[in-house]
Amino acid sequence: MLVSQFQLLCPVCQSPLEGDNKHLRCANNHSYDAARQGYWNLLLANQKRSKDPGDNAEMVQARRAFLELGYYQPLAEQVAKTVADLLPDASSGETARMVDMGCGEGYYTALMQQQLAQHNDLQLAGLDISKHAVKAACSRTKALTWMVASGAAMPVAEQSLDLVTVLFSRLMPDEFRRTLKPGASLLVAYPGEGHLLQLRELIYDEVRQSGFDPASVLGEGFEATELQTVHYDFTLQNQQEIQQLLAMTPHGWRINPAAKARISELNQLTLTLDVNLARFTRS
Ligand SMILES: C[S@@+](CC[C@H](N)C(=O)[O-])C[C@H]1O[C@@H](n2cnc3c(N)ncnc32)[C@H](O)[C@@H]1O
Ligand SMILES: [Zn+2]
Repeated sequence: MLVSQFQLLCPVCQSPLEGDNKHLRCANNHSYDAARQGYWNLLLANQKRSKDPGDNAEMVQARRAFLELGYYQPLAEQVAKTVADLLPDASSGETARMVDMGCGEGYYTALMQQQLAQHNDLQLAGLDISKHAVKAACSRTKALTWMVASGAAMPVAEQSLDLVTVLFSRLMPDEFRRTLKPGASLLVAYPGEGHLLQLRELIYDEVRQSGFDPASVLGEGFEATELQTVHYDFTLQNQQEIQQLLAMTPHGWRINPAAKARISELNQLTLTLDVNLARFTRS
């Protein structure tokens, strides 16, 4: 089962951390206590660009409230199923190791854990730079390793990971190149051009295409291996649900007063979920 502690490195000196689920220590005597909620804080002060990096408490709360409505569950299930297919299975005799980078409040990570609960030799970690997000994630499950750390400097050994997932979070090509084993996979979820199009049409006079292309961001060392799209419609059933989605998406934060007024009149809103799941192989 999945309670095995993820093998972490000391963020100060990069030696392996050893210990139990309360304390970790490296050979150079740098030591770390688990937070009350059960996560590791491995983010050094000099890795922070601001006092409180990543999503703030309000953004985390908005994301959780919307995801809990269940409209993204088919997407989460598809992600979890894909992850299970990508990991080396238990019979290979090797420990499988994966990180969900930018895990947020853990909605997708917890479902991956459930899907993989039968795997008998797996180390699974959820990593986010926001302590608000990781604190919230801890309340979902204790059966994986949660940590506050920077995705640009993961406390993870070179070529030690079988899989990294990046769901709606920033790509960190250098760090993924360093930590993934040769032949290992990187799974990236990002919005397709039709994603929440009806909402974007209500907000913007002119809806722009994002043009985001993970292959060009990743650059050398990654081979585009597979592209799946998850595509379905769902209907928000009342004004509260509509406001919950708005609070979660960057489109909602950019809204002008006229669009806000238009949207506040709606009792229902049918939207398209259009998400790309791109798999890359570390060459
Ligand atoms: C749009 S949210 C997605 C969260 C989650 N994957 C989900 O889909 O529900 C992006 C996340 O990336 C995190 N983040 C931003 N910069 C980061 C960094 N440098 N390292 C790790 N996480 C980061 C934010 O705190 C936030 O939780
Ligand atoms: Zn150390």
